This record gives sequence, structure tokens and C-alpha cells, in this order.
Amino acid sequence: MSEKVNGGGAHYAVHWQEEQYVHPPASFIGQANMTDPAVFERFSLDNFPECFKEFADLLDWDQYWHTTLDTSDAPCWKWFVGGKLNASYNCVDRHLAKYKNKTAIHYVPEPEDEPIIHMTYQELYRRVNETAAVLRDFCGLKAGDRVTLQLPMTPELPITMLACARLGVIHSQVFAGFSGQACGERIWDSGSNILITMDAYYRNGKLLDHKAVGDIAVEVAKKEGQQVDKVLIWQRYPGKYSSNAPLIEGRDYFMNDLLKQYARTIVEPVSMPAEGILFLMYTSGSTGRPKGVQHSIGGYLSYVAWMSKVIQDIHPEDVYWCMADIGWITGHSFIVYGPLAIAASTVIYEGLPTYPDAGRVWRIAEELGVNIFHTSPTAIRGFRKSGPDEPAKYNYNFKHMTTVGEPIEPEVWKWYYNVVGKGKAVVVDTWWQTETGGFLCSTVPGISPMKPGSAGPGVPGIHPVILDNEGNEIPAGAGKAGNICIRNPWPGLMQTIWKDRDRYVSTYYGKYCKDPNSKDWRDWPYMAGDAAVVSADGYVRILGRVDDVINVAGHRLGTKEIESAALTIEEVAEAAVIAAKDEIKGTVPDLYVSLKPGCQASDELAVKISNAVSTVVGKIARPRNVHIVPDMPKTRSGKIMRRVLASISNRGDVGDVTSLANPDVVEKIRKQVQG
Ligand code: PRX
Repeated sequence: MSEKVNGGGAHYAVHWQEEQYVHPPASFIGQANMTDPAVFERFSLDNFPECFKEFADLLDWDQYWHTTLDTSDAPCWKWFVGGKLNASYNCVDRHLAKYKNKTAIHYVPEPEDEPIIHMTYQELYRRVNETAAVLRDFCGLKAGDRVTLQLPMTPELPITMLACARLGVIHSQVFAGFSGQACGERIWDSGSNILITMDAYYRNGKLLDHKAVGDIAVEVAKKEGQQVDKVLIWQRYPGKYSSNAPLIEGRDYFMNDLLKQYARTIVEPVSMPAEGILFLMYTSGSTGRPKGVQHSIGGYLSYVAWMSKVIQDIHPEDVYWCMADIGWITGHSFIVYGPLAIAASTVIYEGLPTYPDAGRVWRIAEELGVNIFHTSPTAIRGFRKSGPDEPAKYNYNFKHMTTVGEPIEPEVWKWYYNVVGKGKAVVVDTWWQTETGGFLCSTVPGISPMKPGSAGPGVPGIHPVILDNEGNEIPAGAGKAGNICIRNPWPGLMQTIWKDRDRYVSTYYGKYCKDPNSKDWRDWPYMAGDAAVVSADGYVRILGRVDDVINVAGHRLGTKEIESAALTIEEVAEAAVIAAKDEIKGTVPDLYVSLKPGCQASDELAVKISNAVSTVVGKIARPRNVHIVPDMPKTRSGKIMRRVLASISNRGDVGDVTSLANPDVVEKIRKQVQG
């Protein structure tokens, strides 16, 4: 654990305003999918693991399973063993009988003069089938193959994901805002020989050239040893090429052209084992290499379907809008798979929430009749700053709202509740991770009261526990922070890290599993990597990461990835990145570097280092500041004291630094940074 840990039992003072309850309105409870408090009893550990049958029963199975949980390869849990199903069938085909003319996807392009698309389930079915035909018959893809997608927020992204799922092909979607370098590394790690991208997309009023990013990705993958044979290019405007990047003959193909040969082709969904792999989602960890988080078909899909129904409270007649990007886990689970599995109408939008003006989001909500809304604290802080009175100008009515991705300050929560929700919507603060597939802590909105700034207890079936560094349980109400763990496995939990079981075992279980040979799930508490405190009522308050991960605007970035990017610049000797507090984004990276002997600090060099981070990792990782310092504060054993740098950036107390190898440098850095 790094030195910035607050998970080792530090005292945590709970402020009085954080302990207020807010009760769900009767109008919400009256229509909620889940109002029976007995659900918690049904999902108690006494009923584990059979209770999860209720999740799996939300899906259509080609073959029912015989074993709910197989622990023989602990901690790689196998759920619903013996079962067979297809995720694409469950998200599309099975809804046709009842809902074929209902909107599956509302798509809002960024330019406001382009029409909104309302794609029905029937239309989605046709497009998924035709796309699957291209993947199967033109590309030769079959179950178990991996395909990398780097698609922006257009309907072609969920269509391509569902087409892969139809064939049992494992998709690995890389966030479109990531650099070509980052995408190339993920292509290589996953062993994909096909990249599916788009020529261009809109952001902030500009049509960005995206094909060029794909070209870099293919080159990077090739250098690492992974050949990409085909690049399939969706066109933002079908029939027109909106990129300046040259086309490479025999490698680059327009999807629009290929699809013509497969018009109205029907592709039978491949019946897959429940334990087959649905997708990989790369996320940052403590080391430089991103982890390919591997999710199953049956366990994952049943988990997100149940959570969409019970925690998101989606009914088929609702219009549901999760503002995340599908390139992150939130989008996979709660824009695509969960909502579509339960026949929802899900909204996706291109561009930024605040472009062309601060009213955009509320205008979309009004026009589409959105009644369930899902976003992050960073977005909420942004709305509050850029247009605090905007929501009142629009005639929309939310009954349910979600906050996800980072801790939310009680003040920001209250603005969300009062101004965005107009005091009429329930709010769920859902705590979870890429690895966990779906929610871990949240209130059940039709049952439990809300508490501003607190995620709530474990959702039904999830049993959290807070452990200190020695593995002792910190009781609820003790007012002490510790490492939050989950006592039991659950169907949405990742299967493993792609090609790296050892890393899976050591990262999540290394600290607390006492017997690595045990086949008993009770011996394998899942360590999330967050510090948390639990109040006497069992409500969990998440305090932040305990490892070398920075949460920027709800996006996880590995400090090592940013530091390695800085070290690609010739002059840089050492680099250390810390999480600096930010009014809107929660935290942002501040980068400290020291130079090799004889190299001179300059503004140009700082810009060069900053650009390197954008190029290697992506624009979201661009440091707020690059501080070129004379030396790094270090322990006598040579470890960089990031905690000291963080205190300087955040204008906090640096504490006692006399035991450092070079205490004098601390004051020099403080003066340089704080003036
Ligand atoms: O630190 C927690 C924070 O985001 C991390 C997971 O990031 P990622 O895998 O990218 O998934 C984001 C979407 C679920 C967690 O370890 N986090 C997530 N949700 C919350 C949160 N922190 C506080 N409150 C939340 N509701």
C-alpha cells in the first residue's frame, strides 16, 4: 500500500450533516420494482449462493444450469455452471414479440440540427444481425476470438458489441478518448487481429479525426508483436469518409460497404456456456500495465439485469439516460447490457453535456421524456457551476437519479436532489468498480432512505466488511476507516484478469486470504482497494483509493502509467504524480519531475512533458501542472514521498519531514509551487 493510505484504521470524524436521512417519496415507492424489505433476508449469507437463482431467472437460457456456484478453481468462481445462453439474444431477440416497435436506443448527435434517432428493437435486431454477418462471414470470427473496438458514442458501438456477443466473440472496447498508443497496447494484450473504429465523431463543436488514432494503435500493436489484419471503419456519415487518414488497401474496410452484401442476413445466436467470456475491459492498476478485466456471459448479464431492474428501477415504459461513455464499465453495464436485457429504452448522446450551452442536458431530458437519469459527481459539479439555475427552465420530470464513480460531497448531493431532481426524485449513490460488473453498495430506492454523501449498505446479495491492515474487522459505527472488502463472491464479479491469473489473485486477495489452497469462498474476501467507513446503520461511506490509482472525474488512471509517460522525455530523471483536489473533477493529476544532471527547466520542457502524457495515455490524463523540481523528497531508502508532494499541491500540512533523506528540498518545492 502506498503512503497516502487512509485505510489503516485512521479515525474518521463523521459530520452531522452527513448523517441526515432523506426518505423516498410515496409516488416513487408506489411504482417501484422492489419494495419488499424481505429481499435482504432472501439474500442473506445463509441463503448463499442459491439466492442468486433469482438473478439468473431474469434471463432466457437455452439450457438451464446445474450448479449455481462452483468454487473448485477458487478464487476464479464459476456461476451457473452447465447453463447455456446468448447475451445478444437476451438483449434483443427475446423482446421482439412484445416490444419490437418500442425504442431500444435513443441517439442524440451533438449537432443540434441533426435529427435524433429512435431505434426500435426491430431495427436494432436487423442491424446487430447484419453486423454479426460481417464479423462472421467476412472476418471469419468465431466464439472465443477477441476483437478490439475503439468506437465513439454512436449507436454503432452497442450494435457492434451485441454483434460480437451474438457470435460468442469477446469484445474489448477501448474508450475513444484514449490515445492510439493506449489502444495499441490493449490490442496487443488481448491478442485481437481486428480493430473496429469510426472515421470521426463530434466533441465540443468539432468533428475529430478518429481513424488516425486507429492507425497509430495498429502500428503500436504491431511493434509489440500483434498483427492487425483488418480495420473495419464505421462512418459517422454513412457513404462519406470524414477523416484525412489514408486508407490502406487490403486492411481498411468501410462497414457501410461490407454491410451491403449482408442486407437482411439473419445470424443464429451462438449458444454459449454461462462461463464463456462476454468482454474484456481494461482498467488501471498499481503497476504500469493496464489489466484486462474479464467478464462472464451468464453471471455478468444476470447481475446487471437484476441491478437495472431493482436499483435503477427501470420499467419497459421508462426513458432511461445514463450519461457515461460506453467505453467505461458504467456504459457497458448500465447503458447497454443491463437496460437492454430488461427491454428498456436507453439514451446515448454524442459530445459534451455543456456544449453548445449549459441547457443541453435538460433540453434532451425534456425532448425525450427522460425519467431516470444517471451521472457522476464531476458532471453534477459541472452543471452546478456552469448553469445552476438551468434545470428549472426545462420541463422534465425525473423520478430516479444515480450518482456514480467518485465520492459525492453532501452539498453537491443536495443540489442534485433539490435542483436537478426538483425534490421529487430518489437518488442512488452506487459504489462499484470495473472488476465488480455491477453495483456493490447502494440503497434499494423503493425500500431504504438515502443519506447524502453515503453510498448505502451492500445491495442485496453483497456483504461488505471493513478490515484493518491486520485483517481485523472494524465494526460498524466505530468511526474508523479501513479497507472495504466483500465477504462473498457474486455473479457479476470478474472471472480473472485476462492471461494473468496471478495478478488477479494477488491484487484482490493477496492481503487477506489466509489459505491460498482453500476452496471455501469464506476464505477469499474480495479487497476493492478503497478506504471506507461504515456508520452504525450499516451505511458505507467511500473515502477513496488506497492504491496508486487516481480518480480523475470518475475515471481511473494509474499513477505508474502517467509517470512512465513522463519518463519517455529524454531530460526527465524521475517523475511522481499525485492527486490534487479540484473543485469540479474531484481530483486531477499534478506531476512532479526532476531532471537529469545538466538539463535545464523551462516552460517549453514542461509543455513537452505534458504532451507526452496526453499522447501516451490520453487527454484525460493531462496533468494540471508539471512542476520541474530540483529533487524529489525521498525516504532514506530512496522512496519518493508522494504524500509530501500531495500535501504541497493541496496546501495541506506536510507533517514531520525531518527523517527524510533530503528534508531541505521540501521547503524549496513548497515555495516553488505555492509561491
Ligand atoms: O474509488 C472507487 C470509485 O471508483 C473506483 C472504481 O473505478 P472504475 O473501475 O473506473 O469504475 C467506475 C464506475 C463504477 C472505485 O474503486 N467509485 C466508484 N463509485 C463510487 C466511487 N467512490 C465513491 N462513491 C461511489 N459511488
